[in-house]
Amino acid sequence: MKRRAALSTMGALALAGHRAFAQQPIVIKFSHVVTDDTPKGKGALKFRELAEKYTGGRVKVEVYPNSTLYKDKEELDALQTGSVQMLAPSTAKFRPIGVPEFEAMDLPFVFNGEEGYYKTVQGPIGSGLLKRLEAKGITGLAYWDNGFHMVSANRPLLMPADFQGLKVRISGSKIADLYFRKLGALPQIMAFSEVYHALQTGVVDGCENTPSNYWTQKFHEVQKHITVSNHAHLQYAVITNSKFWNGLPADVRGQLTKAMAEATQYTNSIAKQENVDALEKIKASGKTTLHYLDPQQRTAWVAALKPVYHEAEARVGKQVVDDLLKSAGIVA
Ligand code: LMR
Repeated sequence: MKRRAALSTMGALALAGHRAFAQQPIVIKFSHVVTDDTPKGKGALKFRELAEKYTGGRVKVEVYPNSTLYKDKEELDALQTGSVQMLAPSTAKFRPIGVPEFEAMDLPFVFNGEEGYYKTVQGPIGSGLLKRLEAKGITGLAYWDNGFHMVSANRPLLMPADFQGLKVRISGSKIADLYFRKLGALPQIMAFSEVYHALQTGVVDGCENTPSNYWTQKFHEVQKHITVSNHAHLQYAVITNSKFWNGLPADVRGQLTKAMAEATQYTNSIAKQENVDALEKIKASGKTTLHYLDPQQRTAWVAALKPVYHEAEARVGKQVVDDLLKSAGIVA
């Protein structure tokens, strides 16, 4: 009798344990390197809101912004080992995991405005690049926009010759390395979280980035001159660990796919305005001087950088460069 009672108590406990386990939410750690107050930061928070809503709380998303969890290179390692489940690195940072082809999108003056950018990522070039991640155990979920780069230093950068000897921070792309070298600068790869300090202390003289990143990292406070050059584009690939993603219950994966599609639409809808607003705030701060290229200066940049199109083939592959140039209508 006693034994039967003990057994049924054990059964009840096991059931309660099973229920508690069944109720544990699936946790998605989403790490990134910019502040919450940027297109990507806001996109990650929107994904959190929608993912938790659509899954009725079965999924909990923890967003870790501003390199609080991992820096650039570390976060890719963390995704592959399963320490985090989601990232949105700029496409300039995929070489360490063996997909340098993404860097083709860093080619200078290759997108004809935002329209040209969207045509590329939403077409076969964009989907083809995401597909390359699969062999690395990574699933590409979306592209998020963050507009065109500006470039800065403590001297005005108006003509190619102005770059001579300038130490410039780049985020990882061998294409950015190529175009800065073509201008006579000395590019250096450095994690995003280290840029402000490096500019402040003179470890590097200059950098490139979008207005929203300059504003939220305060780069404009340590750079006397910024050129709104729009010379290259910054975009992110939102990625997840394939083993994690494919192991999700199918209904949960469906709800997360829907949340990601809507978060993507939201992020892409605010990116342009976020950058317009950030540029206004940088201007109003009075801490730097903004420059815009006149047609003659722009023509000089385009001419100086043209050889990069051909030289890029050796760094990222001929096919992707050809496809991109063809899509842009550029004859190299
Ligand atoms: C950078 O390192 O400059 C950017 O990729 C940062 C970011 O994620 O926008």
